Amino acid sequence: MRELRCLGAGEALLVLVLVLIQLGTALKCVCQLCANHTCETEAEGACWNSVMLINGKEEAVKSCLSPSELKGQVFCYSSRNVSKRNCCFTDFCNNETLHLYPQTASDGSSWGRLELAAVILVPSCLLCVGVVLSLCALQNQRCVHSKARKQDPEEPLDDQSLVSPEKCLKELIFDMSTSGSGSGLPLLVQRTIARTIVLQESIGKGRFGEVWRGKWRGEDVAVKIFSSRDERSWFREAEMYQTIMLRHENILGFIAADNKDNGSWTQLWLVSEYHEHGSLFDYLNRYTVSVDGMIVLALSIASGLAHLHMEIIGTQGKPAIAHRDIKSKNILVKKNGTAVIADLGLAVKHDSNSNAIDIPVNHRVGTKRYMAPEILDDTINMNSFESFKRADIYSLGLVFWELARRCSVRGIHEDFQLPYFDQVPSDPSVEDMRRVVCDQKLRPSIPNQWQSCEALRVMGKIMRECWYANSAARLTALRVKKTLSQVTVIKDVKE
Ligand SMILES: Nc1ncnc2c1ncn2[C@@H]1O[C@H](COP(=O)(O)OP(=O)(O)OP(=O)(O)O)[C@@H](O)[C@H]1O
Ligand SMILES: [Mg+2]
Repeated sequence: MRELRCLGAGEALLVLVLVLIQLGTALKCVCQLCANHTCETEAEGACWNSVMLINGKEEAVKSCLSPSELKGQVFCYSSRNVSKRNCCFTDFCNNETLHLYPQTASDGSSWGRLELAAVILVPSCLLCVGVVLSLCALQNQRCVHSKARKQDPEEPLDDQSLVSPEKCLKELIFDMSTSGSGSGLPLLVQRTIARTIVLQESIGKGRFGEVWRGKWRGEDVAVKIFSSRDERSWFREAEMYQTIMLRHENILGFIAADNKDNGSWTQLWLVSEYHEHGSLFDYLNRYTVSVDGMIVLALSIASGLAHLHMEIIGTQGKPAIAHRDIKSKNILVKKNGTAVIADLGLAVKHDSNSNAIDIPVNHRVGTKRYMAPEILDDTINMNSFESFKRADIYSLGLVFWELARRCSVRGIHEDFQLPYFDQVPSDPSVEDMRRVVCDQKLRPSIPNQWQSCEALRVMGKIMRECWYANSAARLTALRVKKTLSQVTVIKDVKE
């Protein structure tokens, strides 16, 4: 309607009538994925224009919307700070570039000049483009050809060049990490992959959605499906995984994020590598581990967390990240016996220049059973990013305890239990946890027999040093990683 305000009453009426007529008919829209960069909607469809913040960079998508997509809840609304979407109903009405933040400050007085400039510049530009195009056509279409082949990042790609048919996921991800920004596949490639996944079976359900095993070009992938109600969580998790240089062998490999309409509502997809063993929680429930197996798992978890926590400075650097929901259900076990940290939906990033945390933090967001004492009794210093890393370390200690109990030495091991299983009910409240962890100062018990195995003795010592009530006294993830790698070194020397 803002555009209408700039027109006279007669012209506005004419535009309104045109809009109403076009509402019921097919539309032509700008489309980056389509031939000639144009698509045509079905009757009662719309043109779609969107921009999302991916790694702090605005990524725009323009296309046609079907009437059923139009009904979806996500396509036509914007969410604060993270995405802006616009549905419109006249031919090529999505031919403008949306921005999340105002590009330049403009006041009412500059409108007259802008309009004047537009009136002069637009026809002249069109004339120039016409002349250039005719010259190109005269030169045996060579000019047009080379222009289409030029690798301009702003130019949309066609379907074939988006995801070359013979590439497997590993190659795509490898290409991306060596040539791109080191953060994620381009948005259009992500969408193309997501739209060609065939879901196979549901493998789990969490707070924010359901996880499915899917197939993409014959390979297994995991698809976490969020409902449109949880758009913020979907966006946050996708955004976190695409943090520059986050990719690490002990962080779940992110593949794609997509919003997909199923006719009646919009499903938000997050596609990642699939690990058939499932979570560490699933794995430890099912199997015991050898001493080596325990150390490999513990070391890989500590390595993943150390990478998250570490700030890397420079253009190819990464911010420090605190996970805020470390638990055995949020760690997945790979085929080779190592682990990856998953579920970054609650994580926070630290901007060391401004010493700010990237989102307003809610202090009690994790899983109550794994919450550090300072979170339970609300004494955590939320102005310091270190506090969040220290709370992660406390939770890491609890995960190590779950793991070490399942380590089988000469056939002796404990059954699988969650931390504080013998102190609190199955779905404990913050109050239940606070009583045990803060008031009674209890921690999970460390069995005596762990003293007779060097690796278990070291694990027990690490746990205690992760659980200090005084968070400043806790180990860092890097320290835990170094101590565990020395256990393997000692073992290697003995062999
Ligand atoms: N990439 C994956 N590969 C294989 N299995 C997975 C993968 N991601 C998740 N799963 C399985 O799906 C289950 C559900 O995961 P999800 O993260 O939605 O919930 P959760 O971790 O169990 O609970 P919460 O919502 O508290 O985090 C996991 O416990 C795990 O068994
Ligand atoms: Mg989870």
